[in-house]
Amino acid sequence: MKVLAISGSPRKGNTDSMLKQVLKGAAENGAETELVRLADKKIEPCRAVCDCFETDSECPLKDDMPKLIEKLVSADAIVFGSPDYFKNVSGIMKNFMDRTNGLCGTGKLEEKQAATIAVGGQDLKNVQFCENALAEFAKDHKMNVVGSVKASAEEAGEVAENKEVMAACLELGHKISPKK
Ligand SMILES: Cc1cc2nc3c(=O)[nH]c(=O)nc-3n(C[C@H](O)[C@H](O)[C@H](O)COP(=O)(O)O)c2cc1C
Repeated sequence: MKVLAISGSPRKGNTDSMLKQVLKGAAENGAETELVRLADKKIEPCRAVCDCFETDSECPLKDDMPKLIEKLVSADAIVFGSPDYFKNVSGIMKNFMDRTNGLCGTGKLEEKQAATIAVGGQDLKNVQFCENALAEFAKDHKMNVVGSVKASAEEAGEVAENKEVMAACLELGHKISPKK
């Protein structure tokens, strides 16, 4: 089983810590895992040409997105993680989401498992908006959302000290890669 994690944080901070813990849980159950940091990729904003929606291929933008789409399609489960920015996902996560529009048209993510990770500096009510945005995105792709973890943490590294959140992330990793 292949479990792919997508991090929408521009820094190596709380989102990455939580995603790594989910992947650790999945690996413990035998999954092959990979973390992709969107900040390390060149992803242009969607220009609404929309050829991709019909053909799944002819996007005129030349960047890292086609390779990333291959990874998404070959994964069995995808964990989407983002910091909460103004009660939403980060800008780089939103660019990524928009560029998967073609996969909605061709249905290539349908029935895959999805999980979400959201973290913000304010209270969990605030972070819920970010979690909802990620979950609705996965549902638009007709993925099965099997679980989520959200956390309140401001400084990079802070969430790694939160034993409850780290345990929930590990458990989520176990859940998306059940032992046979
Ligand atoms: C541009 C920007 C906007 C933010 N907006 C919010 C917000 O609306 N709500 C919130 O709870 N935290 C907000 N934060 C705080 C981050 O979500 C918080 O620091 C989080 O831990 C960052 O995760 P990271 O370490 O994975 O980057 C914002 C941070 C930035 C840089």
